Order: sequence, then structure tokens, then C-alpha cells
Amino acid sequence: MLVTGGAGFIGANFVRLVEKQWPKCQVTVIDKLTYAGNRDNLAGTQTAFVHGDITDAALVDSLVAQTDVIVHFAAESHNDNSLHDPSPFITTNIMGTYVLLEAARKHSVYLHHVSTDEVFGDLEIGAPTTFTETTAYAPSSPYSASKASSDHLVRAWARSFGLQVTVSNCSNNYGPYQHIEKFIPRQITNILDGRTPKLYGTGEQVRDWIHVDDHNLAVLEILAHGEFGETYNIGADQQDINNREVIELICELMGIPGQYEHVADRPGHDQRYAMDASKLREQLGWQPQYTNLRDGLKQTIAWYTEHTAWWKTAKDDVESTYAAKGQ
Ligand code: NAD
Ligand code: TYD
Repeated sequence: MLVTGGAGFIGANFVRLVEKQWPKCQVTVIDKLTYAGNRDNLAGTQTAFVHGDITDAALVDSLVAQTDVIVHFAAESHNDNSLHDPSPFITTNIMGTYVLLEAARKHSVYLHHVSTDEVFGDLEIGAPTTFTETTAYAPSSPYSASKASSDHLVRAWARSFGLQVTVSNCSNNYGPYQHIEKFIPRQITNILDGRTPKLYGTGEQVRDWIHVDDHNLAVLEILAHGEFGETYNIGADQQDINNREVIELICELMGIPGQYEHVADRPGHDQRYAMDASKLREQLGWQPQYTNLRDGLKQTIAWYTEHTAWWKTAKDDVESTYAAKGQ
């Protein structure tokens, strides 16, 4: 198995899960080690590691020639960064996916593409609507537009060239190894570091939070039993908690109830995401193990508390970048 972006948050958790669940599977990771990738995220695993860029066609071709399946996580993944500089999002998320698809086509290798619910745009707060696999794409940010583009490429390679593919679109993940620029680990490490948690705007926005292990268990189900050409939505039905309530929960769990501040809102901020994952549940029998955000957050807070060295060196830089934007 070739795992792209395996030194990032979800990819590293995925590699660890594969080792546990499928111990005979030989995994190779290709990762560029951008600011978001960390070789230490794979410490203690048996995986072969290649430090490289998925836009490097010769390198990708040589790796794909030796693999049975590609699981494609590599991406620029942060909306706020895409508002500042969209360029690496276009290169990695679109061109990188294209390079992988061409190698997969040449060597007839199955590719699973890991994507996001953000390709669907957003939903009205309070409305009963959810995203299904057939919801029309309406991405809002350069990040989500680049992921939408990559999804279209993957489906086009399946239809035009008969490439064996599956696609999953998942909601917001949280859990160990998530970069501290993202909402939940940023607040946890703010509190651990003696800083005040930061809420964008009024915090009415809703995300459909899922623990990273539940996302990755769904990907394993799709790899084992999914149908080629199909797309599966992944979400854990946590659709009724907004950002303000999440930050309040983190503050409460960490012993500083109500002590957070409102900062500048994100331009073009998507209001609500909500996934209908019934296809995955009914056809593949997947169900989330973390059904309660409070329990998942407790586990995640414990991980960041025990792994200060993992995040501490990046903290000043991340916070000064946010501070420069009033966030
Ligand atoms: P991340 O930013 O933590 O990790 C991305 C990894 O990709 C890093 O290790 C980075 O070094 C690597 N990478 C970046 N550009 C590369 C390149 N050109 N060549 C090789 N490696 C490169 O991201 P994540 O949160 O783990 O997300 C992984 C995937 O899951 C992405 O495709 C993302 O769109 C998708 N996704 C994320 C979420 C979420 O909540 N984080 C939700 C749904 C889907
Ligand atoms: P984020 O983790 O960046 O994920 P995404 O943009 O993919 O949803 O942000 C999650 C939500 O939290 C989003 O509505 C923006 C908000 N947010 C804050 O309120 N404060 C923060 O410090 C950050 C980083 C995000």
C-alpha cells in the first residue's frame, strides 16, 4: 500500500491503524514533510518512508509500479492558509492528484481518494438539510475548490480510462497528531500554554466533528468492501454543536470555564456542514466508535497534555501568524 501524506495528521493515524488491523500489509509513505508533516508522527511504525513530492512524476511512477493500492491523503489542508496563498493548494491538491492518477492508470493500480465535506459548500444554520453523495459541488474557499477539482479528476479517470477508484468525503476530524493551527488543537494548546482560546466571530458555525480513528476505520471498510467507482460520505452525526459550544466544552474540560475571546472572523466563513453517512453505514456496516464529542475531546486533551514536546516548538510561530491577522 502506498500512502500519500502519511506523515500528516490523518495519514499518520491511518498508518498506525493499518499496522494494527492489517499487520501483513506492507506500507510505504510518500510525504513532502511540509510544515504540516512530521517524520516523528510515524515513530515506532514499520512503514517505509520516502521523503518526496507527489507532483514529482518520475518518483511517483517508480513507487506506484511497486504497489497494489494507493491511499491518497497528501494535501494542503488548511482553509485559512489558502486565503493567504492559494498557490500550493493548486499545485499539490490538483496537480499532485493528476500525477498520481496518471501513474495509477499506467500501472493499473486502485486508488482511494480522501476528500472533504467542504466540496459541497455550506448549509444554512438550523436548516434540516445534510450533504449526501449526490449534493452538487459548491466550494467556497481556495482549499475546498482545489479538493473539489481533485475529486472531479478522480471520477473522470474512472469514467474515461476505467481506473479503479473510490472516493470518500469526510467531515472535520479531531484527535492526536493534528496540527495546532486547526481549531480544536489550537484551543487545547492555547490553554496548556497559558494563552486565551480564540473563537472566530460569534462562533455560530457548525462542524460535524468526527474522531480521526472513526474516519480511518471507514477508509479501511471502503478499501476492503467498497465498490469501484463509488463515493462514500463519512460523518459521525455530531451536527448540533456549534464552535462556541465546542470552545466552551474545551474550556470546561480544562478547568477554565468561559475563559475565551472572540477574534476576527474568517472571510467567506462556511456556516454549517452536516454529513449524511447512511450509505456507508448501510452498505458497508461502518459505525463510529466515538459517538460523544466530550469523550473524544477528553482523549485528545490528554494526548496534547502528554505530548508537549510534539507541539511546543511550533506554537509561537503559529500564534504570531494568527495575531498578525487579528485572530
Ligand atoms: P495535514 O495537513 O495534517 O497533512 C497533510 C500531509 O500531506 C502532510 O504530512 C504534508 O507534509 C503532506 N504533503 C503536503 N503536500 C505534499 C506534496 N506535494 N507531496 C507529498 N506530501 C505532501 O492534513 P490532514 O488533516 O491529515 O488531511 C489529510 C487529507 O484528508 C487531506 O486530503 C484533506 O483534504 C483530507 N480531509 C481532512 C479533514 C480534516 O478535518 N483534517 C477532513 C476531511 C478530509
Ligand atoms: P478549522 O479547524 O480551520 O477547520 P475548517 O476550516 O476545515 O472547518 O476550523 C473549524 C472551525 O473553527 C471553523 O468554523 C473556523 C473556526 N475556528 C475558530 O473559531 N478559531 C480558530 O482559532 C480556528 C483555527 C478556527
